[in-house]
Amino acid sequence: MELSAVLMRLLWLSAALAASSSSRRPRSAEAPQSSSPFGPVWPLPRSIRISPDRLQLAPRRFQIVHGAGSSAGPQCSLLQDAFRRYYEYLFGYSKHQKHEEKSLANTELAALQIIITSEEPDCDKYPDISSDEEYNLSIGEPVAVLKAEKVWGALRGLETFSQLVFEDDYGTFFINASDITDFPRFAHRGILIDTARHFLPLKSILTTLDAMAFNKFNVLHWHIVDDQSFPYQSITFPELSAQGSYSYNHIYTPTDVRLVIEYARLRGIRVLPEFDTPGHTQSWGKGQKDILTPCYNGEHPTGSYGPINPILNATYEFMAKFFKEVGTVFPDEYIHLGGDEVDFSCWKSNPAVKEFVRKQGVWYSYTKLESYYIDKMLDVVSSLNKKSIVWQEVFDNGAELSSDSVVEVWMGNSYEEELRKVTKEGLPAILAAPWYLDYISYGQDWMKYYKVEPLSFSGCETQKKLVLGGEACLWGEYVDATNLIPRLWPRASAVGERLWSSKNVTDLEDAYSRLSEHRCRMLRRGIAAQPLNVGFCRHEVRNP
Ligand SMILES: *[C@@H]1O[C@H](CO)[C@@H](O)[C@H](O)[C@H]1NC(C)=O
Ligand SMILES: *[C@@H]1O[C@H](CO)[C@@H](O)[C@H](O)[C@H]1NC(C)=O
Ligand SMILES: *[C@@H]1O[C@H](CO)[C@@H](O)[C@H](O)[C@H]1NC(C)=O
Ligand SMILES: *[C@@H]1O[C@H](CO)[C@@H](O)[C@H](O)[C@H]1NC(C)=O
Repeated sequence: MELSAVLMRLLWLSAALAASSSSRRPRSAEAPQSSSPFGPVWPLPRSIRISPDRLQLAPRRFQIVHGAGSSAGPQCSLLQDAFRRYYEYLFGYSKHQKHEEKSLANTELAALQIIITSEEPDCDKYPDISSDEEYNLSIGEPVAVLKAEKVWGALRGLETFSQLVFEDDYGTFFINASDITDFPRFAHRGILIDTARHFLPLKSILTTLDAMAFNKFNVLHWHIVDDQSFPYQSITFPELSAQGSYSYNHIYTPTDVRLVIEYARLRGIRVLPEFDTPGHTQSWGKGQKDILTPCYNGEHPTGSYGPINPILNATYEFMAKFFKEVGTVFPDEYIHLGGDEVDFSCWKSNPAVKEFVRKQGVWYSYTKLESYYIDKMLDVVSSLNKKSIVWQEVFDNGAELSSDSVVEVWMGNSYEEELRKVTKEGLPAILAAPWYLDYISYGQDWMKYYKVEPLSFSGCETQKKLVLGGEACLWGEYVDATNLIPRLWPRASAVGERLWSSKNVTDLEDAYSRLSEHRCRMLRRGIAAQPLNVGFCRHEVRNP
C-alpha cells in the first residue's frame, strides 16, 4: 500500500474507533451477583441490608427526581448535573439502543427520589472539612428514596445507588430492594497529584476527579509546583510560569484552575492547593529575581541557588502578595504550605544568611531559621483568614503552629509515633505515609494499603479524634498522562474504603470480590483502572 493509503486507513480506523466507543453496547455487563453478601458496592457503607427482592429498571421510564419536601429543586444545578451524570452511568450504553421497552414482567422501580432535608442544601457552596456527607437510601417498590441533609450526602448516595444497579446478560437492569445508612469515618479523604515533575493535562485531572467521586474521595491535594516546573499561571506574577514552566503549553491558566475547582465542587470534592516552600522551589527562581538563596563556595557565589531566601524583607512582601492571590483563586479554607525536605547546605554557604544566624545568638540554628520562615508564612495564611496544612518536618522543627494548623505525616519509618506526637500537642493530623502510591511493586499491593489502620497509634480518644483522615499520594517523577490513571486506580480505592468505611471492614476476601467488580465498573465508566489480578471484566468487548 502507498504510505498515504495506509495513513488514510489509519485515520479512518481511529475515527471509527472514536465513534464506536460511545455508542457500542457491551455484550454483557458486570456479573449480576457479587460473591460478596454486600453486593458490588465500594466503599462499603456503614450499614447495608440487601434483600433478595429484585426490582427492574426501565431506562426509558426510570427517573432521578427531586422528592416531595426536598429543600432543593431544579434550580439546584449541582444536583441537576449529578442526576444527568448518574443516569448516564446507569444506562449509558443502553440508551443508544433503539428497541422498544416492553412492559416489564417484574416489579418495577420507577424512580429515585432525592430529598434534601436541611433548609440550606448547600447547592452553591464549596464543600469543606465539616461538610455533611451522610445519606440514607431506601430502595423498594415503587420508588427508591435517598435522604440527605445536604447535597454532599446526596452525591455520595447517588454513587452508592448507581453501584447497586446491574445489567443482566439480556440487557435488563435490576436492583435489589435494600436499606442503607451511610456516612464517612474520616472527613479528609484525599488524593495527591503532582503537576510539577510532569505536567498533567486538564483532562487527566478531570478524569481523576471522576474516579475520586466513584471512590468517595473528597479532597484533591494539588501539589501544583515544585523544583522542576511552575505550571501555575499567577495573575499577580505571570513571570513565574512564563519562565518557570516547562513551556507555554505546560501551564494552568486561571480559567483552567477555575474549571478544575468547579468540576471538583460538582462532585463534592475540595481542591487543596499546595505551594511548597522554602525547599522544592528551584522553578520559582526563574521568574522572580532574588527569591532564592544564592549558594556560595567560600567567598564566591557558585551560580546555583538554594531554598527561598529567608532573610530578605522582599521575600515576605512577595509571598504575602502571592499567597493573597492563592487564597482568592482557591476557595478552600486550607492552604498547604509544604515545608518538607529543606536542604540547609546552601543557607550555610551564604555569608549573609550565616551572619543572620550568627546574630541571633549561639542557640540559633538553621532549623530555627526554617521555622522563622515558616512562622511568617503561617502568619500570611492566617491574615487571609485561612488555615494552614504543613508537612511533618514543620512540626518536628518546632514551628509555632496554631491549634487549627494541620500536620501531614508522610515519613514512612515511624508514622504511628509521629501521629502520637502531633496529636499529643493537640494538633490535627492527616496520614499519608503508608499510602505513597508512586512506589510500585509486583503483585496485589492494594492489600498493603487496605490493611493500614490509621488510628493504630497509642493515644487517648481525644488524640484519635484529631486524625482528620488521610491521603493517597502519587508523586510525579515517573507519572504523566500516560500512566496517572492506571497507577492510581484501583490501588487508591483501597485507601478510599479504609477512610470511608467502618474500622471493622477488614475482610480481604470480601474486599477483593467487591474491588474486582468496582474496577470493572470504573473501566466501564471510562477510567483506565489497571487489573488487580488475572481475570476479565464481563463487559469487555473484542473490538472496543
Ligand atoms: C439480589 O437478589 C437476587 C435475587 O433474589 C439474589 O439471588 C441475590 O443474592 C441478591 N443480592 C444480594 C447482594 O443480596
Ligand atoms: C438516617 O437514618 C438514621 C437512622 O434512622 C437517622 O438517625 C438519620 O437522621 C437519618 N439521616 C438522614 C440524612 O435522613
Ligand atoms: C526589614 O523589616 C524590618 C521590620 O519591618 C526592619 O526593621 C528592617 O530594617 C528591614 N530591613 C531592610 C533591609 O529593609
Ligand atoms: C461492624 O460493626 C458494626 C457495629 O458493631 C456491625 O453492625 C457491622 O455489621 C460490622 N461490620 C462488619 C463488616 O463486620
